Amino acid sequence: MYKIILDTDPGVDDAMAIAFALLHPDIELLALTTVFGNVNIDLTTRNAQSLLELFGATQTVVARGAAVPLEQTPNGFADFVHGQDGLGNCYDDRPLTASAPHAEIHTLDAADFIIEATRQAPGEITLVAVGPMTNVAEALRRDPTLPTRVQQLVIMGGTVTEPGNVSPVAEANFYNDPHAADEILAVNWPATIVGLDVTHRVMLQDPHLKSLASAGATGDFLWRCSRFYVDFYTRRARQHNASEASIPACAMHDAAAIAAVIMPDAFERINGAARVITEGVAVGMLALDRKGGPYPLDYWDNRTAETYACVSLAAEQVRQTFLDTIINHKLT
Ligand code: RIB
Ligand code: CA
Repeated sequence: MYKIILDTDPGVDDAMAIAFALLHPDIELLALTTVFGNVNIDLTTRNAQSLLELFGATQTVVARGAAVPLEQTPNGFADFVHGQDGLGNCYDDRPLTASAPHAEIHTLDAADFIIEATRQAPGEITLVAVGPMTNVAEALRRDPTLPTRVQQLVIMGGTVTEPGNVSPVAEANFYNDPHAADEILAVNWPATIVGLDVTHRVMLQDPHLKSLASAGATGDFLWRCSRFYVDFYTRRARQHNASEASIPACAMHDAAAIAAVIMPDAFERINGAARVITEGVAVGMLALDRKGGPYPLDYWDNRTAETYACVSLAAEQVRQTFLDTIINHKLT
């Protein structure tokens, strides 16, 4: 059983990851810790509560996290990708089950929740971060021993050779807090990066998503909230390469990070010392030292951590595991 704390900025693909983690029989989703990113912290936190209610969660708590990056001036929100409400403009202001743990925001903020939960269960918790890395970095600043108590850290972010989605070199989660990403990759967790190199290779096409529509309340919502998100991806694909847009599709970025936890052998990794560029035209870029120094410039010298970055995956196996989990497992 994988005990997961999911740090998230829901977000349509975050909603896919939350449903995947809740419904998969090998996962116990302990908590959602929320962060700004796709939309503001008020909306990501509200969305986290609402999704847990909709998906039938009975044990998962919500701890609210950072509203802004560690250092840099906040960028704009990706509501043009995920909708004004962050959920494809399908947010339902549904009443929450008063007795449910997600109905009340936890008294600890996200960083302290992560620290406390790993103190109570050292070595047992997998931390999956699928938004800007601000909460994870804040937790590390408050408690530098955190990496010794985490079973593993799985990060949706960055890109090694695949073009970025914010610039030719930058992926959104690292771009939205490059200082946080750079700080957490300076220490040994162990950390695995699930970046665009793999998440752009496991797309969900409309027939895949339509197959979820008849899978209860969870599948129906994932179908409905994907409409706005798929439209963004399809319009962007048409700008680049019309053949790619022949069948409307979208990325399942954050759900792929959940897959990397439960089916690690479906992913091929490389390793090296990682930096994330924090300023200039390459801000947000993941820069792996794959050869090992020494170099005349010492910017990687204190990077003893071995970061693993996924560079390929068994896409059909990952996609089918996600779809089967949503279709064949229900909490509601
Ligand atoms: O670049 C994709 C990532 O940024 C995903 O986690 C998406 O939800 C946004 O947070
Ligand atoms: Ca996300």
